[in-house]
Parts: sequence; structure tokens; C-alpha cells
Amino acid sequence: MHQRTVIQAAIAAALLVAGGAALAQERFRIGLILPMTGQQATTGRQIEAAARLWMAQNGDTVAGRKIELIVKDDTSLPDMTRRLAQELVVNEKVNVLAGFGITPSALAVAPIATQSKTPEVVMAAATSSITEASPYIVRTSFTLPQVSVAMADWAPKNGIKSVVTLVTDYGPGLDAEKFFKDRFLFNGGKVPDSLRVPLRNPDFAPFLQKVRDIKPDALFVFVPSGAGAAVMKQFLERGMDKAGIRLIATGDVTDDDQLNDMGDGALGVVTSHHYSADHQSAANKKFVEAFQKANKGLRPNFMAVGGYDGMRVIYEALKKTGGKGGGEALVAAMKGQVFESPRGPVFIDAQTRDVVQNVYLRKVEKKNGQLFNVEFDVIKDVKDPGKTKK
Ligand code: DHB
Repeated sequence: MHQRTVIQAAIAAALLVAGGAALAQERFRIGLILPMTGQQATTGRQIEAAARLWMAQNGDTVAGRKIELIVKDDTSLPDMTRRLAQELVVNEKVNVLAGFGITPSALAVAPIATQSKTPEVVMAAATSSITEASPYIVRTSFTLPQVSVAMADWAPKNGIKSVVTLVTDYGPGLDAEKFFKDRFLFNGGKVPDSLRVPLRNPDFAPFLQKVRDIKPDALFVFVPSGAGAAVMKQFLERGMDKAGIRLIATGDVTDDDQLNDMGDGALGVVTSHHYSADHQSAANKKFVEAFQKANKGLRPNFMAVGGYDGMRVIYEALKKTGGKGGGEALVAAMKGQVFESPRGPVFIDAQTRDVVQNVYLRKVEKKNGQLFNVEFDVIKDVKDPGKTKK
């Protein structure tokens, strides 16, 4: 070899090594955008606590890369979510965007994820169509169709023949309404009315009055996390239960974050959902204990589990790429992951990038003086029934 070529090759090799070392030292940044204040603040609090617990338990270095978590408060306003995502990608050079407390926030970021080839890990928002908004979206929470169908199958087998639906008037509520109603009608039930309440500052009173007048066997409710206690309170105050109307719901209503403060009026309420803090497994027991220990006794809810598992999916993907990262490689490495979550077995469907999981039927019961959603039946490995395309 010519001497100059040898020198050039040596320089190139040295640069390659230096490049590798630089990459190893370069931090891997996760931009966690959550509602930390405002109506959805409990979602932000739960997910941030869970993400920090994951890091405390699993270290802050993955495949030689130091992990940095950057938390931003979008106050659950989608314009703010979009602006923060833009800043995080352009200025902070984040490798992954994550969080997203409500559907409009998750959707607002989808074009940024696509254009910048940045994975968007949705840990909370649960409208079916979200994963179709960008090929860079991967979801670790759940979908409303996934959990609502289970309730529409349970109710008619348990003496409930007519149901009025009451949902928050946006993506997940419309999914819950449609998938509950279609399945319940298919099962021979009747739905005399479907009511929708606004997302911002809802007043349930006039809607509940209407339900009282119609007097169905049950009222099926979806409201986002944080609004359940208000529904329960007004349902009981208006004596709906005494009028013979049962409350059935997705687990967002008997939210573990609030359930224990709802009082004994909540006893016996049956819901369908993918996570209960009372889920009986060694993995969940460990998770709940560690979460409570790190957060002054706060009980983890389904949002916390979405955040915890989202961090796992990111860590595993980074490991699989040997610490290299890169948006496309990370998403490819997120697809098809299978693991045991505190909620039970979980699978990230490679085709849809959506979460496949068990859905449980649960009843509010008292255990050691505390209210819990006690699971009594399970539908295994439920795929989102709401996907319109592959
Ligand atoms: C969504 C938000 C919630 O708090 C919830 O419990 C379910 C869905 C959402 O906006 O997608």
C-alpha cells in the first residue's frame, strides 16, 4: 500500500473509533410531554412517576448511552403539545417523543414524528385511530374499542337489556360509544339514547337527569382519567342507583387514582379495563409496592402502567439497536416486543404498532378497608377491534 493511502486509512479508522466513542457518550434523550397541570394533571403525575420508577429500577445507561428524560407540561392543550414537540426535536435533538395525555395531543404531534423520523410512544391517549396517524407511533396504553366491547358482552348476560351511553365528546368517547353500542345491539340489547358531554369543564347533572327520566337498566359511561369521581358523586347524589339504574363503565371511571376516595357508593360497580392495581401477579405486586414507596403511598393507575411499559419498550429498542438508535431502527425494534407487564402479558403488534393485551372484568370491592377493582373474568390477548386498515 502507498504510504499516503496507509495514513489516510489510519486517519479514517481513528475517526471511526472517535465517532463511535462520541456516539457512546452522546446522551439518548427522551422528550416526555405530559399534562402536569390543568384538568388532566393526574395523568401527567402518574406517568412521570412511573417513568422515573422504571429508570430507578433499570438504570440510566442503556447499551452505553446515558438516558436523559426531559419532561414538558403541555397543560393538555394540543397546540402547546405540538410546539413543545417541535422544540424538543429541533433544539434538544430528542431521540424519542413520549407521553401524550389526551388524544388531540397525540394526534397534534404525529406530523412532526413523521417528518423528523422520531418515534412517538403514546403512553396514555387511547383513541383507536391514533396509531394510523404516523408510522412512527407506537402505543403502550390501550384503546377504547378494546375495553368497551368486553362490557357490551358482559352486560346482556347479566340482566342488562337496555343501556343509555354517556361519553365525553371527543375521540376516545366516540370510540367507546360506537363500539359499546354496536356490540350491545348485536347482542340483542337496546340503546334508547346516547349522550355526550364536553371535554372541558363538564357538568354531568343535566345528562344524568335525562337518564333518570329514560330509566334504562344501566348507564354506560366513559370519561377520561381524572373525571370519574365527579361522575360517581353525581350519579349517587341523584339517587340513580336507588332508582334501579346500574352504573357500568370502562375502567377510566373507577380510576385507581381516585377510587379509594369515591366512598362505599362505588361498591359493586362493574367495569372493563386492561389494568387494576389489584391485579394478582408477582410482577404487579412488586410494581405497586415500589411505586407507592417512591410516591408517598400514591396508588398507580392505568396511566402509570402505560408510562412504565412505554419506558421498557424504549429501553429494549435501544438495546436491540446496540445503542445506535435512529428513528426507523428504533420503531422496527419496538415492533413485536412481547413482555410481562404489571397488567399481564403484553404484545406490540408489528403490523399496527398497537398494544395487544388482556381485558379484565372487574367489580369494586373492599379489601383491607380500601376500595379496589377486583378482577373476576378475563378476555385474553385482545387486539384493538377499531383498526380500519392494516
Ligand atoms: C384518553 C384520555 C384519558 O384520560 C383516558 O382515560 C382515556 C383516553 C384520550 O384522550 O385518549
